[in-house]
Amino acid sequence: MEKLENLDKIVNLCKGRGFIFQGSEIYGGMGNTWDYGPIGIELKNNVKRAWWKKFVQEADNSFGVDAAILMNSRVWDASGHTASFSDPKMDCKNCKTRHRADNLIEDYNKKHGVENMAVDAMSNEEMQAYITEHQIKCPNCGKCDWTEIKNFNLMFSTKRGVTDSNQDVIYLRPETAQGEFVNFLNVQRTTRAKVPFGIAQIGKAFRNEITPGNFIFRTIEFEQMEHQFFCHEKDGEKYYNEYKQKAWDFATSVGLKPEHLRFKDHDKLAFYAKAACDLQYLFPMGWNELNGIHNRTNHDLSRHQEFSGKSMLYLDPITNERYVPNDIEYSIGCDRLILALLCEAYDEELLENGETRIVMHFAPHIAPYKVAVLPLQKNLSEKAREVFKKLQTKFMATYDEAGSIGKRYRRQDEIGTPYCVTIDFDSLEKDTVTVRDRDTMKQDIVKIDELVDYLQQKLGL
Ligand code: GAP
Repeated sequence: MEKLENLDKIVNLCKGRGFIFQGSEIYGGMGNTWDYGPIGIELKNNVKRAWWKKFVQEADNSFGVDAAILMNSRVWDASGHTASFSDPKMDCKNCKTRHRADNLIEDYNKKHGVENMAVDAMSNEEMQAYITEHQIKCPNCGKCDWTEIKNFNLMFSTKRGVTDSNQDVIYLRPETAQGEFVNFLNVQRTTRAKVPFGIAQIGKAFRNEITPGNFIFRTIEFEQMEHQFFCHEKDGEKYYNEYKQKAWDFATSVGLKPEHLRFKDHDKLAFYAKAACDLQYLFPMGWNELNGIHNRTNHDLSRHQEFSGKSMLYLDPITNERYVPNDIEYSIGCDRLILALLCEAYDEELLENGETRIVMHFAPHIAPYKVAVLPLQKNLSEKAREVFKKLQTKFMATYDEAGSIGKRYRRQDEIGTPYCVTIDFDSLEKDTVTVRDRDTMKQDIVKIDELVDYLQQKLGL
């Protein structure tokens, strides 16, 4: 199939097949929020499970946490989010819509073939001058009549307190990372981990972003899968490169093709950072960040030491050296990864009979359902239910007896179910079923007694 030009087909499939719906849909929606449906939540859980397996279970010295979303406001002072977690925004004076200046420039450059411009390294003054010089227009009304660029903080704030007069401002966390940093001492003490070791977390983050509407690419509420790896300063470069490799290996292991992935170094490093890059994916709207890898030195732990007054010094039991460990951060948006996986899996195949089938080629461990049980006719449903019950204890399985067998295969193809098990009259007489492979559409006859082993082997689970 040709590469997807835009996200329309993915959005429609997601809505039609129960992957992802518009948030609060019956009330006309709520901008930039999305709800995962029965198929989408299986996909998401599988992605999170695969990530945890790679970054915690199979890692040598890595531990998970699940920190609170609401944290002491001093955390955000220490992390720098209160002072400077902002986007450069400008308003169109004509139609009153608000836009990100860097996005306006990037979109303009994409359209006009301007490559390799370090937009993330531009100051507000430089962006303003570029927009004026090139007369970059408002994507909503087409006029070029902008306010000055202003920085808007991206954190959602709320209030905590039992009386109206005594309420503290608190924030919904804009990243999960701080939950890992503030638990550095707790994790080290309770696991008796020696540096180097890692702390992982999967959880919700919130950012009051203006987004150009690329489905779940950039939303105001999203899930992050983050991992901090604490090490000695001298090993920073080695582990930074190791985590780049891990990021690549994980992305390809869940099904992203290497030709759709590339690394991009950051043009501008934060003052404390030694190195930073993004792993980018070729989305239908172009190359974009999938995840980040960052050598953050000992900045984060040092800042928490300063703001909390708690020592973050680690005593090396062999060398007796005392130091604040450095951190290599790996961070990926679960929802953004899901968007990449949906784009990668989507295929339209022309069949011999002239029809086109839509098929999602998910890797088996990521696929929402592993197997579907389909009785050829309704009067075979008793036997089919028996087989289904047996499979359900081993795999995420689904059952469908509505419509022609062809239609049922199409439905399973569209949600990416790797195997369909058809119950026919031989199932009653010979205790066999027909197993159809999603990708090749080839069929095998398998004994019911051997079905679980057959599927386990085929799925590689
Ligand atoms: N702790 C580091 C951090 O949060 P980031 O580059 O701001 O770094 C990390 O975010 C990852 O989280 C991104 O690479 C992206 O995959 C995802 N992400 C960030 N903002 C997002 C948003 N508004 N919607 C969906 N995913 C987002």
